Amino acid sequence: MEPFESDRASLPRNMIENSMFEEEPDVLDLAKETPAYPLDPDDMVYEPRSSRLLVRGLGENDMDEEEEDYESSARLLGMSFMNRSSSLRPSASPYARQEQSSSCTMPSNRTLLLGVFVLVVVASVAMVIYFLPKCTLTKEGCHTVNTSMELIYPRATNGELFPWTSLRLPVYVQPVHYDLLIHPNLTTMTFQGTVSITIDVLNDTKNVILHSSGLQITNVTVQDKEVKKLEYQPWQQIALKFPEDLKKGQTYVLTMEYSANLSNSYSGFYNSSYVDKGGNKRVLAATQFEPLAARKAFPCFDEPALKATFLIKIKRETGYISLSNMPKNQTVELSDGLLQDEFEKSVRMSTYLVAFIVANFTQINQIASDTLVSVYAVPDKVDQLDYALGCAVKLLKFYNTLFGIKFPLKKLDLVAIPDFLAGAMENWGLITFRERTLLVGNHSSLMDKQVVASVIAHELAHQWFGNLVTMKWWNDLWLNEGFATYMEYTSVEKVFPELEIGNDFLSMRFKSLAEDSLNSSRPISTEVATPEQVEEMFDSVSYEKGASTLLMLSSTLTEEKFYKGVSEYLEKYRNMNTDNEDLWNSFPQEEYNVVDMMNTWTLQKGFPLVTVNRTGAQVSVSQEHFLLKVNKTAKSSDLWHIPLTYVNDSCSTSPNCTQLFLLKDKTATFKVPKNVKWMKFNFRNNGFYIVNYGEEGWRALIEAVKENHEVLTPEDRASLINNLFALSRLGKLSFKQVMNLLVYLEHENHTAPLTEALYQLDRIYRLLDKRQDLLASSMKNYILNLFVDKMNSQSWEQDLPLSKQELRSALLEVACRYGQKNCTDRAEHVFLQWVASNGTERIPGDLMKVVFSVGAQSNAGWEMLLQTYTHSIVDADRRKMLAALASSQDVRKVLWLLQESLQGSYVKTQELPLILHTVCRNFAGHLYAWDFVKENWGKITQKFPIGSFAIQDIIMSTTSYFSTERLLWEVCRQCLHSF
Ligand code: BES
Ligand code: ZN
Repeated sequence: MEPFESDRASLPRNMIENSMFEEEPDVLDLAKETPAYPLDPDDMVYEPRSSRLLVRGLGENDMDEEEEDYESSARLLGMSFMNRSSSLRPSASPYARQEQSSSCTMPSNRTLLLGVFVLVVVASVAMVIYFLPKCTLTKEGCHTVNTSMELIYPRATNGELFPWTSLRLPVYVQPVHYDLLIHPNLTTMTFQGTVSITIDVLNDTKNVILHSSGLQITNVTVQDKEVKKLEYQPWQQIALKFPEDLKKGQTYVLTMEYSANLSNSYSGFYNSSYVDKGGNKRVLAATQFEPLAARKAFPCFDEPALKATFLIKIKRETGYISLSNMPKNQTVELSDGLLQDEFEKSVRMSTYLVAFIVANFTQINQIASDTLVSVYAVPDKVDQLDYALGCAVKLLKFYNTLFGIKFPLKKLDLVAIPDFLAGAMENWGLITFRERTLLVGNHSSLMDKQVVASVIAHELAHQWFGNLVTMKWWNDLWLNEGFATYMEYTSVEKVFPELEIGNDFLSMRFKSLAEDSLNSSRPISTEVATPEQVEEMFDSVSYEKGASTLLMLSSTLTEEKFYKGVSEYLEKYRNMNTDNEDLWNSFPQEEYNVVDMMNTWTLQKGFPLVTVNRTGAQVSVSQEHFLLKVNKTAKSSDLWHIPLTYVNDSCSTSPNCTQLFLLKDKTATFKVPKNVKWMKFNFRNNGFYIVNYGEEGWRALIEAVKENHEVLTPEDRASLINNLFALSRLGKLSFKQVMNLLVYLEHENHTAPLTEALYQLDRIYRLLDKRQDLLASSMKNYILNLFVDKMNSQSWEQDLPLSKQELRSALLEVACRYGQKNCTDRAEHVFLQWVASNGTERIPGDLMKVVFSVGAQSNAGWEMLLQTYTHSIVDADRRKMLAALASSQDVRKVLWLLQESLQGSYVKTQELPLILHTVCRNFAGHLYAWDFVKENWGKITQKFPIGSFAIQDIIMSTTSYFSTERLLWEVCRQCLHSF
């Protein structure tokens, strides 16, 4: 991966998040410190409207001395306004996610009281208005109805009582099969559909409740008789009302005709477009249903456990092809000149995995273990498909063997969609991707290939974890995403060793620890009910902490036992739904009580800090919650079953050297040989915990590393660096001790420890810089001092092995950003050569970003990049150009980019998170971006669902450089008043 890479902003979650140079979303830790000196507004290059008020201290909210609890984070902020929006829904309370105990800031009592009063008044008025029947203000008034019923049931769109009171569907009606006919009209951008759903009735009932959102349902019949339909839009539900009971044990067929507009966002059945080589605009339609958008394309029982078979037919015009989950059975010519493609009946599957596409794509294909694997893209990009096809074929064979269950479909399509919000989506048999995550140009670098291989590995893993075996409900989304993320790294490591994914996996785990150390984190398995809460589950906890805990389990059990359990789990639950316990019960429980052990990791938030004390042969260990919080309220009940691994000076670099002690209690002791000089815990950082060795333990370890750093594996060296920074941030160690270890870096050549140290130091520098702290320049000098030789010795021409590329791009990105003349001169030289060649001269892929970013600082360079951006057809390169364009210090240019992207004309709206992310990296930018987000919140949330990863990312990007109390307060105020 490209460290410092703002590709993170809208690339696949962990591909992005494993970037070592990701900012952590915590406003809190630095906010708690008072700036060393007052900020001088006159020194500012640019002051956005509201930020100026803040910088000058003219904000309306005076802050009192008592404001001490600055525990907050972008994630928390995202959560708090998202939860607020969900809690306005009457449904939210019974199911609502448990209240996060965290808060933004602690305003003064006076402010607090006033705020509470205003909130109570506003909330009461809102609730009264919300609950008032729609008829209240009409001339006719309301009909009298059974008032006790009225208190229970909400009102349907037509004013009648809606006969269901829960966001979850009733369990007594089960869908068995869907016949779906869809006809998208790519001229009017509308679609028509007919769905027939076969249902089993498990209890007598007069109502059938299912999902529908934004569909005009014109006709509903059951066994050819017309049926009354009610709609309750806030919950995206419809009720079919029958005069007589549907009988227990009977099967019925519900048929509905409907129409809708193709969506302009990125979910449901949406329209996408691109401009072809000839300059013509081409349109297409594609689906993105996960998590809750199948209901936007056809009325359905849209819950993951309500699996059914699907028989899909698609009407299209000639000149387009259609694709769906299953192989095509036949194409029929219709009397109106249209063609109707009919696909085979699917396997039993969840609605969120259904997919269809109508487009003019081209493809290449190959057979792998009896499955026809095809890769599709717009015709102009057909020569960028080879790499993806090769990867998909290799990985499919690998997974077939590893899991011992063959991929059950006869075909598997991988399709690059020009407008696509996520990184990729695992629809069964029809995986959809961003162009960036599937296409590889002739000159693409190994780092670009690594992205493609990893994303394919992730989505293919879902064909087993998620598609074949699905979580019962979204609270256990991690069973999908954590597993796919774990498989993504482990399979790429095995199948594509040249892609050296290990460093990325390690930095992903560091990042996951950092996010989970905030009080605003959540347990891996978390109750959710509202759509916003479901969206929020697609976060670092489900993906990265999920993957990290699986790694810890597999290294505890051994890989062999781990995969044996996994295969048994897949076999036992194939085509069914599972929860946490089902998974843990599939592993042998004799040696370790896996159920008890893993529940401590998935059912409570956070992770432990293990403190080690050794006196001679006696080692005592204790655990506590590692919590980045000022007022720590860690409960004594926070205990984990920690598989503590350790090595010592006599044997330290091979897995055979490791010993394991299971720490279940708060404290424990065990013995080691007396003559042990030092111990390193958490071998290769495969466990999800941080270790404090105490004064003496650290001293011995640091000395050993300084003497010969190869006594530890590179992962263990990186782990020591990471843990030292984490502990100093918690106030458990002084920064001096960190500096004491970092002296050894002079001899370090390995990517993992170097990039981890550089990331941690640069992160502190950037925060100091953003607050114009005098310490910033000392920090910069300290960093340069440590790394300058390594920066200067990097080559600018050659292609290097991947981990060397990662190191090079990390070092040079910092060097050029810090204005190191060697770096900027060289980058400018390469850029000018590139300009002179009219963009044809090849720049090594890992250097493009730094070269373009330096080039983009001049007017001419920026213009040239913009031109090339517009015409280039290699999406990975285009994103590097876009990031460089967004790194301009010229606020007008940045403003133009942001606005263009929001409109989606010149720059696609899917790139907005990337642009914001990059803009926030420079001083003027981060203040400006915050204003932009506030001012355009309505438009932004029309495109990106509240709670979604894109929104999480936007909030994190725009707030993660805030480090003053005033900005923290401003963010909190904004959450309460505007969002
Ligand atoms: N299932 C997700 C796609 C998704 C993400 C759907 C968010 C709904 C909301 C897919 O498997 C996924 O995880 N995609 C990643 C890329 C992956 C390689 C990490 C993404 O989109 O970030
Ligand atoms: Zn996934």
